[in-house]
Amino acid sequence: MNLGLRNKVVLVTAASSGIGKSTAELFLKEDAKVVICSRSKEKLLETFSELSQYGNNNLFWTICDINEISDINNTVNLVKEKFGDIDILVNNCGGPTAGFFEDLDEAEFEFAYKQVLMSVVRFTKLVIPKMKIKNWGRIINITSIAVHQPVENLILSNTFRTALLGLSKTLSTQLAKNNITVNSVAPGYTLTQRIYELALHKAKQTNESHETILANMTKEIPMQRMAMPEEIAAAIVFLASEQAAYITGNSIHVDGGRVKSLF
Ligand SMILES: NC(=O)c1ccc[n+]([C@@H]2O[C@H](COP(=O)([O-])OP(=O)(O)OC[C@H]3O[C@@H](n4cnc5c(N)ncnc54)[C@H](OP(=O)(O)O)[C@@H]3O)[C@@H](O)[C@H]2O)c1
Repeated sequence: MNLGLRNKVVLVTAASSGIGKSTAELFLKEDAKVVICSRSKEKLLETFSELSQYGNNNLFWTICDINEISDINNTVNLVKEKFGDIDILVNNCGGPTAGFFEDLDEAEFEFAYKQVLMSVVRFTKLVIPKMKIKNWGRIINITSIAVHQPVENLILSNTFRTALLGLSKTLSTQLAKNNITVNSVAPGYTLTQRIYELALHKAKQTNESHETILANMTKEIPMQRMAMPEEIAAAIVFLASEQAAYITGNSIHVDGGRVKSLF
């Protein structure tokens, strides 16, 4: 199937590893022009080298801490200089700190607010004007199954990702007439660095091994396995495609059946 993504300009944030990296890879396979960003130069260089198997011409990297407004502005300007205005914005971020309400202080709430919600507000504000001129655009926000079913010890994720969902839905109605779709992808447990970090965090609290924690998490999933990051990426890339032109304001959970709710 031709997804109509050839030469589309894509920015994937927080993409030096995991879901962001797999998403960038899938866009490259579709011949899109892809920029990846994150904080660590070392990780970006490693990922750039790995993804160079698809050729260097369509791939660019830049350092960006998505909690910093100046980095966000620089990144969007750099994408424009390198490939042109952004057609497809994939808003990804690092995972918010795990913990229960009483474990987390105000500074941690403020950090997560900037990381999960304000980064999306800031990137989105910068890309919308040009998408409106082109009368075409895709904004895809990576959230978590926490937006459909809160995760016990992830109160920061539960809190700010649901706010992000509200933002996505509202924006989708405001931008639909401009042919700009806004959707969210909510991953379930996915085999990346993040899931090991969460398991290690829980292992410390419970005195179980992180292997036992991971095995128990897997048992919660009807498919009895965790996702591969490319399985999350597949939904993201589909939502960016021409075939998904009539899908907007949605949140798709890619979770092997983990969410128990009907919607
Ligand atoms: N894995 C799961 O099971 C799962 C489930 C539900 C939701 N999610 C969510 O999906 C998102 C991606 O997770 P993942 O599993 O792919 O995690 P991951 O493999 O740990 O990747 C996180 C990425 O975020 C980047 N990053 C972190 N802080 C950043 C910042 N301030 N500015 C820019 N980049 C930053 C990291 O790169 P640098 O270190 O180079 O900055 C890295 O590339 C997270 O929000 C996570 O919570 C994951």
